[in-house]
Amino acid sequence: MTELNKIALKILSNGKGILAADESTATMTKRLENVNVSSSSENRLLFREILFSSESMRDCIGGVILYDETIKQITSSKQKIPELISSTGALPGIKVDTGAKVLAGSPEEKITEGLDGLRERLTEYYQLGARFTKWRGVYSISNSYPSKLSINSNAHALARYSALVQECKMVPIVEPEVLMEGNHSAEDCFSKTSEVIRKCFEELILHNIDLSGVILKPNMILPGASSDKKISSEEVAKLTLKCLKENVPTDVPGVAFLSGGQSEQEATENLDLINKHNDTNFIMTYSYGRALQQSALKSWSKDIKDVKGAQKIFNHRAKMCTLAAQGKWSAELEAK
Ligand code: 13P
Repeated sequence: MTELNKIALKILSNGKGILAADESTATMTKRLENVNVSSSSENRLLFREILFSSESMRDCIGGVILYDETIKQITSSKQKIPELISSTGALPGIKVDTGAKVLAGSPEEKITEGLDGLRERLTEYYQLGARFTKWRGVYSISNSYPSKLSINSNAHALARYSALVQECKMVPIVEPEVLMEGNHSAEDCFSKTSEVIRKCFEELILHNIDLSGVILKPNMILPGASSDKKISSEEVAKLTLKCLKENVPTDVPGVAFLSGGQSEQEATENLDLINKHNDTNFIMTYSYGRALQQSALKSWSKDIKDVKGAQKIFNHRAKMCTLAAQGKWSAELEAK
């Protein structure tokens, strides 16, 4: 077992999942202003500190993805954020891409940037305590998209990123996100996601990546958010498993799904069914942002001094997701 494989398994094993708290300042500002909280660096820290010091961290969360601002912040009790996370048994991680920009040559699509100077930034993040990283490529579905250009260029960037991350002894989360926006069918999502994932691994292999030290963070196979052809959670689970079985090399230890705009309960139920039907060797868990934080943020925004209230809600979500990551969730448990 390589050191990288050990890190990946430490993050994903025993029903644990990943808390994606790596919203950029711009995204976090939108989330906070949405619930009428001003987006100062103090408030951004305050909310995240509430999550990271919650009781469920110990049992449910194997890794936390941070943003550059947060990994350098100090808590109210003078603890460094990566130390607070490590003290719960979880590993600190860091988002290292610098965002999706207009793709020259296909200006309605996006290419994720951040490779320039990445080797040096990775060294700094390692010293700050990070042991894994994230890079997100984004793809939208329409009749002509994602184009070959966007599929190939994002896969190339994900592979170059992964090689630099492994060189620095950290585990790369490879996140090719095929967006839910649009009126496409689940079949379209299946075929486009399959093509995107297949190309990513072709490039990762070309760049000599140790696949046992990679975590894949894909979207589930869902119809577009504005499609009128909805499918059941059973079908979501079956299509998602089929897509991963056909396109992910078996050396990869695990898959941690993004929630991508699904409601908290949908994201939990779909993950649960994926695990109930999981006939692969991949660990299937969560790396949720909104589906772990949304209700806690809403509750906190009503009274930012009510730390315990927000933690109670976050603990419940984390617990539900961890049950789902073992195929042990049921809707009745939500009410408890
Ligand atoms: P969501 O679960 O809110 O989609 O966020 C996960 C993530 O990290 C997206 O890059």
